Amino acid sequence: MAELRIADLTKRFAGKIVLDGLDLVVPSGELLVVLGPSGCGKTTLLRLIAGFERADAGTIHIGDELVAGPGLHELPERRRIGYLAQEGALFPHLTVGANIGFGLRRRPDRDRRVGELIAMVGLPQDYARRYPHQLSGGEQQRVALARALAPAPRLVLLDEPFSALDAALRQAVRDTVAAALRQAGATAVMVTHDQAEAFSMGDHVAVLRAGRIVQHADPVSLYRRPADPVLARFVGEAVLLPGTAAAGRAACALGTLPLAAGAEAEAEGPVEVMIRPEQIRLTLPGATGSRPAEVQDVTFYGHDAVVRLRLPDAPGLDIAARLFGLDVPRPGQTVGIAVAGEVVAYPA
Ligand SMILES: Nc1ncnc2c1ncn2[C@@H]1O[C@H](COP(=O)(O)OP(=O)(O)OP(=O)(O)O)[C@@H](O)[C@H]1O
Ligand SMILES: [Mg+2]
Repeated sequence: MAELRIADLTKRFAGKIVLDGLDLVVPSGELLVVLGPSGCGKTTLLRLIAGFERADAGTIHIGDELVAGPGLHELPERRRIGYLAQEGALFPHLTVGANIGFGLRRRPDRDRRVGELIAMVGLPQDYARRYPHQLSGGEQQRVALARALAPAPRLVLLDEPFSALDAALRQAVRDTVAAALRQAGATAVMVTHDQAEAFSMGDHVAVLRAGRIVQHADPVSLYRRPADPVLARFVGEAVLLPGTAAAGRAACALGTLPLAAGAEAEAEGPVEVMIRPEQIRLTLPGATGSRPAEVQDVTFYGHDAVVRLRLPDAPGLDIAARLFGLDVPRPGQTVGIAVAGEVVAYPA
């Protein structure tokens, strides 16, 4: 368990810049999720931390130890890092027990430690004698995690560890993995392109864009107060409306709305107002403070529904409401809509 500190990390492949002076600090014992679209450099970042790639510039510290820097490249096997690769491949010819114990070959308490790890990732003890092909995808992922945690690494790196699992299994394995990481007290960096995964697992989430971290915050702040409109759309669905801000409020087609505390609350003049679809509520048509809107279409998701709406006096605006109740309106119906809670404004 150790703090991870990355400064000015730069990596090019064949002249093309992938990481561009990236800075990142992960406090000891924390799980940080790095979120970014496919191809943005997530695997590259983990491979640089693990030592499988060499940086072109910048430094990486694990605890007090400099493991990468100008003229210095500590070998991967000496960095004491547990790495769960994007394809978390187990050794197919070794049993589960032998896979988990692979990095513990010289330890006298190996069998006891393997037993502890099997329990930590929530599998029955008799799985130790099975082979990987006798396990489901989710069970294999848990074994791969147990193997990464076995030598009590200072740092654990996880590369999209759940992307191969179906939705139901994914949530169960996420919970087990998050619990196992906390129990091990490990400092961990997980990368993913899945927003829900980032929000539900990370103590903090850092968004990687164009080779740098563009926002690093706790999940709630990142979702409620994204730093710019592009981020707002990347971490969730966003309704963006033109408006005018003054004295901590923004006037737009849906009313004069209070701004969330923070730098954005000081916005003045022309702005883009960001509202989350679940903030838009249906009211009775004509209710005080509401605006009339016509239902364009409805997408039903089971636990909720997304309703696209059009305002008669501003038909060009794209407004989506996420509704949780049982009463979902029909296309063509006229409803009243109002915004609940605070909104964010970006200088236009
Ligand atoms: N060894 C390499 N040689 C040349 N280019 C590479 C190499 N490894 C990665 N790249 C390029 O660097 C960029 C970042 O790749 P990387 O694998 O880090 O992305 P990623 O964010 O992990 O994507 P995904 O979500 O699809 O796994 C891509 O454009 C990729 O083609
Ligand atoms: Mg990748």
